[in-house]
Amino acid sequence: MKRKITVVGSINVDMVTTTARIPSQGETILGDSFQTVPGGKGANQAVAAARLGAEVTMLGKVGADMIGKEMIANLEKNNIFTANVEPVTDVPTGVATILLTEGDNRIIVTPGANSRVTPDYIRSKETVIKESDAILVQLEIPLEAVIVTLELAEKHAVPVIINPAPAQELPQSAWDKATWITPNEQEKKQLFSKKERNEQLITTLGHKGASFQKDGKEYIVPGYVMDAIDTTGAGDTFNGALTTAIAEEKTITEAVQFANAAAALSVTKFGAQGGMPTKQEVEALLKGEKQRAEK
Ligand code: RIB
Ligand code: NA
Repeated sequence: MKRKITVVGSINVDMVTTTARIPSQGETILGDSFQTVPGGKGANQAVAAARLGAEVTMLGKVGADMIGKEMIANLEKNNIFTANVEPVTDVPTGVATILLTEGDNRIIVTPGANSRVTPDYIRSKETVIKESDAILVQLEIPLEAVIVTLELAEKHAVPVIINPAPAQELPQSAWDKATWITPNEQEKKQLFSKKERNEQLITTLGHKGASFQKDGKEYIVPGYVMDAIDTTGAGDTFNGALTTAIAEEKTITEAVQFANAAAALSVTKFGAQGGMPTKQEVEALLKGEKQRAEK
């Protein structure tokens, strides 16, 4: 049975320049190539979950422009329900400027229409949230909207996963409403170093996999070493996959294994959504142990 996931978050167009190195201040260098591809942490996570077999509804906003139309068309091509994605007229679709060097990225996001995802907009979608098997949200939309999402998820007892990226502080009462919080190591250091929320955290460790705590014990679920072409969107793939597995009521260890394998496959192709795998591809990797990372 298909599980219903609602992703509340950003929709961006990614402007990706591939370059041998990063220029220093005041310096001009020649890049290798430039491509425009769909992105945004919200949209990426929605695409990841949909490719893995979830029934996905996207909540978010785009500009009333050509790019906005293209980003919606891309979501639809990936079988995501977009009727609730609203165009706004006063600002453009969100843009991410990405510098890609040796498969690693540096990103600047200009939120544009994503900044118009308001608490009222989220409240108007209460039924969508109520009817979901899981909710997934990131921090590329206004924090007040994230907080309302958490409140509605709690009200309707729907599990909610927060990917705290880009790292921003939420009130303790908001973190407390999350079923799982999925920082990378940097975000964990920034947001959770002093706090007692360890039992909610699933920390992503790149190719090393991910860790979580249960009954006071730390567990590491190993990842995979891949030839990385583009790590952009690996975290998003992890989150989309994790949420899909949680909606399917897999155990947390199984869910993290599934998410690790999906994220590993995602880095083997260009673009945030480029390498996002199907369920069959993830299951094939899970069966073949030979690429498992050595610890
Ligand atoms: O996580 C990767 C994403 O971050 C990119 O697609 C970019 O749009 C930014 O939101
Ligand atoms: Na990729």
